[in-house]
Amino acid sequence: MKNIVILISGRGSNMQAIVNAQIPNARIAAVLSNKTDAAGLAWAAERGIATEALNHKDFADRQSFDNEMIKLIDRYQPDLVVLAGFMRILTPEFCKHYESRLINIHPSLLPAFPGLHTHERALEAGCRIAGCTIHFVTAELDCGPIIAQGAVPVLEGDSADDIAARVLEVEHQLFPQAVADFVNGKLHIQGHRVNGSGNTATASARLLA
Ligand code: GAR
Repeated sequence: MKNIVILISGRGSNMQAIVNAQIPNARIAAVLSNKTDAAGLAWAAERGIATEALNHKDFADRQSFDNEMIKLIDRYQPDLVVLAGFMRILTPEFCKHYESRLINIHPSLLPAFPGLHTHERALEAGCRIAGCTIHFVTAELDCGPIIAQGAVPVLEGDSADDIAARVLEVEHQLFPQAVADFVNGKLHIQGHRVNGSGNTATASARLLA
């Protein structure tokens, strides 16, 4: 059984998709947040999952917040730490501590549009395709080895919210699959590539109309 700790900052719909998938050999050990009022915390607590929040504003700097977060996370002895809408930039020390067992979902087809406001930027750039990327986390923001990508079309008249909603549906399909592939030892990092024998690789190539 692999212990999974999920970090969220908001509603936690991706966390919910992972919990609801009931991945064999995976135990959701805790859902943690940097926001005490993150809606996803209540959802997880209602289902008997351990939840805790550390308000980053209570810390003098990024390093001291991350150090405390590490202590909190490590109490749950995680095999995998999942960033599911965790809206904090992490220190290199944090990334190193969880090297090869820390994954993130990002709402763009990386390496395009790292950082914030991805859908607005995709619209401004005239992209015909938008999407999401699940990747291992390294110290460089949104640059780690890519596990899976899902693509959706950008349609005439779309707003950023329209694209976000379309992409979110794909996120909910891909993220539980990527977690399952990790749990089953099917993801192998080789340099900057992830070679996977799992289902994530095939799912990621799909373009949803
Ligand atoms: C998701 O769209 C995820 O891709 C994005 O935040 C949303 C969280 O939604 N993540 C980032 O922007 C990370 N930089 P959720 O709380 O409903 O899962």
